[in-house]
Amino acid sequence: MYDFDKIIDRSDTNAYKLDLREQNFGTDDLIPLWVADMDFAAPPEVQKAIQNRAAHHIYGYTIRKEEFSSAIVNWCQYKHNWTIQSNWVEYSPGVVPALVFSVLAFSNEGDGVIINTPVYPPFYSVIVNNNRKLLKNSLVDKDGRYEIDFELLEEQASLPDTKIYLLCSPHNPVGRVWTKEELLKIHEICAKHNVLVLADEIHSDLALFGNAHVPFASINKEAAMNCISFMAPSKTFNIAGFSTSYVVAANNELLKQYQATQNRLQLHMGHLFSGVALTSAYNGGKDWLIELTSYLENNILFIERFLKEHLSDVTFFRPEATYLIWLNFKQWNMSQKELKRFMISDAKVGLNDGTSFGIEGEGYLRLNVASPLSVIKKALEQIVEARR
Ligand SMILES: Cc1ncc(COP(=O)(O)O)c(C=O)c1O
Repeated sequence: MYDFDKIIDRSDTNAYKLDLREQNFGTDDLIPLWVADMDFAAPPEVQKAIQNRAAHHIYGYTIRKEEFSSAIVNWCQYKHNWTIQSNWVEYSPGVVPALVFSVLAFSNEGDGVIINTPVYPPFYSVIVNNNRKLLKNSLVDKDGRYEIDFELLEEQASLPDTKIYLLCSPHNPVGRVWTKEELLKIHEICAKHNVLVLADEIHSDLALFGNAHVPFASINKEAAMNCISFMAPSKTFNIAGFSTSYVVAANNELLKQYQATQNRLQLHMGHLFSGVALTSAYNGGKDWLIELTSYLENNILFIERFLKEHLSDVTFFRPEATYLIWLNFKQWNMSQKELKRFMISDAKVGLNDGTSFGIEGEGYLRLNVASPLSVIKKALEQIVEARR
């Protein structure tokens, strides 16, 4: 019913993915499969709601009414079987800004924050740029499926200055959906050592291949009281340009402290279209998301088959969530510099540099599969051709 095969020209829209090619790769002449947004039109319900509101020509200060939080409450129930209350929810201008507010609210300069690397690059900057101590908990690669080093986590959590564990769930870029058992282990360790869990669940609606995302705060009551969850419809419905995300905290003390920091920085207003985009996506986008999910799965299965046939020395773990795949080029025995040069200059395909997620990313590039299949196919063919 929805046409994900359609190629939509994104030029002249100031799209990061296109217009920063020159800055990022040194050339515009490549297929951009990097930044994590999609080359698909947002759900028609969202387009319509935005157009309707835009047709009223006064764009003054705007509030978010009850319908904003009730759309979130209903969505969490529908999508994750997670029962929350509307007074647990606070708007935020973005997940990354919300992580910054939380780091400021719940730790002091010099305190430790744990992250599982390789990981989404702002996880580093959120910590380091706010003068907190970065505690790297490298994920353990078990034949492409990454796992958490719980022994190291316990050691790091037990350090007296460790205040926060910043969890990426599902994980970008390694594509893991953490199981309830894994989340329970995280909870036990963090609760024992009084470490607050910040759960970035922005990719939670994009669990694939029958995997089910488990919200960290849903595993038990104690975990819910020791956690803030960060969510958004932005990845799910391709509406990142609207700055529309939110935090959920069952623990009112945590929520109040979060709000105090966001308000202190005067960033609680948001903008007019964020509420329109979120409510229309959550209320009207269910069918669209079901079709999107199977389109993404199909793209991933295609890539899997294609690589087996034409580039069997490039491998990846089939992601349990996200439209991002973590391609392993280690068998090519190239330096990261050579690998990047090959991809940019020879293959003319724009992928994210694995090392931008951490040193563990040496030998990897991240591919965004949220494009029409014909574009993905062309990019893969260019890689094969360049490799001949
Ligand atoms: C794990 C993770 N968190 C946050 C973001 C971005 O969030 P926002 O645009 O709401 O700041 C991304 C985008 O790729 C992400 O992968």
